[in-house]
Amino acid sequence: MTGDDPLEKRTEPRTDGGAAGEGPAIPRADGGVVDDVALDPWGSSSVSDYRKLFEEFGIEEFDEILEQVPNPHYLMRRGVIFGHRDYRPVARALQNGDPAAVLSGFMPTGDPHIGHKLVFDEIIWHQQQGADAYALIADLEANSARGMSWAEIDEHARNYLLSLLALGFDPEEGELYRQSTNREVQDLAFDLGAEANFSEFQAIYGFDGETDVSHMQSVVTQMADILYPQLEEPKPTVIPVGPDQDPHVRLARDLAERMRFFKVSEAYASFELEPVERALVTEFYERLEPEEFDDDTLRCVHVAEALEETPLSELGVAADVLTSVLTKLNEAGMEPIRPRTRFFDRRATDAAFDALIDAIEGEKRVYESHIDAFEIDREEAEELAREVEVDNGGYGFQPPSSIYHRFMTGLTGGKMSSSIPASHISLLDDPEDGYDKVKSATTGGRETAEEQRELGGKADECPVYELYAYLLAGDDDEFAKRVYDECVGGERLCGDCKEQAAQLMKEFLEDHQEKREEVAALLEQADIELESPRRRQ
Ligand code: TRP
Ligand code: SF4
Repeated sequence: MTGDDPLEKRTEPRTDGGAAGEGPAIPRADGGVVDDVALDPWGSSSVSDYRKLFEEFGIEEFDEILEQVPNPHYLMRRGVIFGHRDYRPVARALQNGDPAAVLSGFMPTGDPHIGHKLVFDEIIWHQQQGADAYALIADLEANSARGMSWAEIDEHARNYLLSLLALGFDPEEGELYRQSTNREVQDLAFDLGAEANFSEFQAIYGFDGETDVSHMQSVVTQMADILYPQLEEPKPTVIPVGPDQDPHVRLARDLAERMRFFKVSEAYASFELEPVERALVTEFYERLEPEEFDDDTLRCVHVAEALEETPLSELGVAADVLTSVLTKLNEAGMEPIRPRTRFFDRRATDAAFDALIDAIEGEKRVYESHIDAFEIDREEAEELAREVEVDNGGYGFQPPSSIYHRFMTGLTGGKMSSSIPASHISLLDDPEDGYDKVKSATTGGRETAEEQRELGGKADECPVYELYAYLLAGDDDEFAKRVYDECVGGERLCGDCKEQAAQLMKEFLEDHQEKREEVAALLEQADIELESPRRRQ
């Protein structure tokens, strides 16, 4: 599958029609399987098993946070949006009416299709929930990574934008741009590029000595896209994309962190602890009841002694972790153990470092490249560090969050692919063609009508059911559920079911295309260049 194509996916379906959150059980529009799991934004990414994305890549399950999302979109309720990275801060901001942003980008390599519609809808929904919304045309990437000419890019870009507006994006509230003409994005890309190097790109994207420099530049440009909504002020930002874009999201989260002036951590004494080591010290610190400690001050050596008296098997850590902690504690010797919040100077200017010293309230200790604060907790410290950074000319980025949607099954079975017209529905398809494509789609139906009545259809393996769940049922969960229940209960037969879906698809396309015409004027007024001044063809 190609990285720019959110349609493509598995060849083999899997079943887990479960409930999402509270309320009536909604049949899940479940994605399935393709060969193996490899997340490659331009290559042949494939998702064999969505569970692996959780286990191997650390993507979290969306269901677990569904309840924290105000007024969740049907794609969230139906499990089409299946995963996320760090979405909680965004959900919280939407809930509280605090600043938040949503941004996604589109490579204008072909016509917008029903897979792109998922992302359009996600952007629009976030905008309606109060987030600042951004949609960009990844024209530099299309030119450098896909070799598209600028004339083709312009034509496709226009089509993406018209569909986005037709589906409800408000260009007055939100921002549209193309990578090539956004100077701020280019400047930010340059800054971010100073924090990344070729070996890293090699490791993440498999770049080698033959990779075009422009292609690498398009990567830093995407990093800048992702952080762009935070230029004015840091805020929780979500990037809705297919899971093939996850390597970009991880790198952007990393770079956001590397740009920070200070790193906040917790410590017990002058030395540093790794997270596992810290957990061990925390446990013993609490166990020794520092308030009532008989020697009036709890010191590093006391914790070391207590650790030495405890058999390793009871500590629940590896031997080398224990050795390392003991070495640190013993070296610190009589130094008192006291929990503190530590601000590390990563790349702060002297002025920013001094400003932070002044800003920290209560007892503090200043060292060469860190400051320990004894009276503020971790969360306050994070906030303070960001504030001082922003006041002193830094970006103060929050790590961007992401949500991931499932790839749709092709109408002909197998992958949905832009290069196989019958496998997908373009938003520009003639409504009659859309009707016909649905009518000739493969289904999860049985050999004969009798068999279907007896055993029920396999909605979980049916591309037509997916159309209902991802698009045709819209916000109407009851309807989606009815189709599912009737199918698996044997009351629904594929002929009628497809007729209904085909009719709905035709109406959707008619309606969408009419709206595209209505918003044409809106697009002309929008603040985005529709014609590229670039020349390389
Ligand atoms: N790389 C994305 C794609 O292949 C397009 C893109 C560019 C993008 N910049 C972005 C996506 C920022 C999300 C956020 O489709
Ligand atoms: Fe698919 Fe509908 Fe047939 Fe069920 S009845 S298998 S949902 S086409």
